[in-house]
Amino acid sequence: MLAGKRILLIIGGGVAAFKALTLIRLLRERGATVVPVITPAGQAFVTPLSASALAAEKVYTELFDLTDEAEMGHIELSRDADLVVVAPATADLLGKMANGLANDLASTLLMATDKRVLVAPAMNVRMWEHPATRRNVAQLRADGVLFAGPTEGPMACGEFGPGRMAEADEIATAIEDALADGPLKGRHVLVTSGPTHEPIDPVRYIANRSSGAQGTAIAAALAALGADVTFVTGPADVPPPAGVRVVRVETARDMLEAVERALPADAAVFAAAVADWRVASASDSKIKKEGSGSLPALSFAENPDILATVSQMVEGRPRLVVGFAAETDDVVANATRKRARKGCDWIVANDVSPATGIMGGPDNTVHLVHAGGVEDWPPMSKTEVGRRLANRIAEALGDMP
Ligand code: C5P
Repeated sequence: MLAGKRILLIIGGGVAAFKALTLIRLLRERGATVVPVITPAGQAFVTPLSASALAAEKVYTELFDLTDEAEMGHIELSRDADLVVVAPATADLLGKMANGLANDLASTLLMATDKRVLVAPAMNVRMWEHPATRRNVAQLRADGVLFAGPTEGPMACGEFGPGRMAEADEIATAIEDALADGPLKGRHVLVTSGPTHEPIDPVRYIANRSSGAQGTAIAAALAALGADVTFVTGPADVPPPAGVRVVRVETARDMLEAVERALPADAAVFAAAVADWRVASASDSKIKKEGSGSLPALSFAENPDILATVSQMVEGRPRLVVGFAAETDDVVANATRKRARKGCDWIVANDVSPATGIMGGPDNTVHLVHAGGVEDWPPMSKTEVGRRLANRIAEALGDMP
């Protein structure tokens, strides 16, 4: 239910704008107050009068409407809401949002808001697949913007494919999810994920096979429980989840710096596969094959251990620190020793021998090692591991003062 929630609904210009009217009705039925804003293009599809009749609220259309400014400025209007929803979110609106343009009421509200933003994209399939839209969508996801749809199907323009706006009831459910008070509401959780890249020279690096899938699933599950998540990720294969604050890093040293900057946190989950070593003195120019007479010899330096550093902090240590142990032999015994050595509270241990298919695969078999002993979890998807771990973290933080 959405009782007492206030939603600022920005209606962009697209055939799907008619669904925004149904959305207003559904949101009101679920108890929300809906304040509509209709862009000039949106007004070609739905009228302010119909939106206002359904919402039983004033509809805003112009940035420089003096009466509106006297009643409520655009800053106030954007912050008064619990959630800002853009439906339909056109390619143009997504482009403005991704690039920080603010030249009309809708884009100014989106720049001025301090609330979460959920978009329901709607556009022709070619526009949705255009590299510019791909870039904008990736940027918006990285900024923590939530997405409902688009879905795939026949379009008003006669083409078929992704780009159709989600149905009003699907958007209403996504809005409910976004506003649900999960058990981690008000908690800040830090998650590291992905591999790190350690440069050899400007074009070569040392890395590992981590895809970032498990860390991403954990961050998504924590966000779904209402946590405020800072997601510090190395160059991973899978895109970061929606609804989290993304900090992209490359090396282990960058990752430590980003983690220290993100603290304090209530809990921290170190799922990244951090390179243990870096090349001691990476070359500033590309190492040449010809003329050197001998093969290059690399010498290594040890990287900072981020998990151990944070676990052993005297001041400002997160109350719950979770590490991972990717092992190929004696998984539980090694993980138990690792927990003691690093000083973390929990270790999530898994067997990453190539035969398990865990590294880069969709599933995982983990053991949760804590002060009370070892729990062997059955094989399950990485998404499910993320959900279970997030629930356990919520329980543990709930039990802590
Ligand atoms: O020692 P090992 O690399 O096996 O430890 C794995 C755990 O330690 C993981 O949680 C990983 O994210 C973390 N780690 C770290 N910094 C390092 C190495 C590992 O945070 N330099």
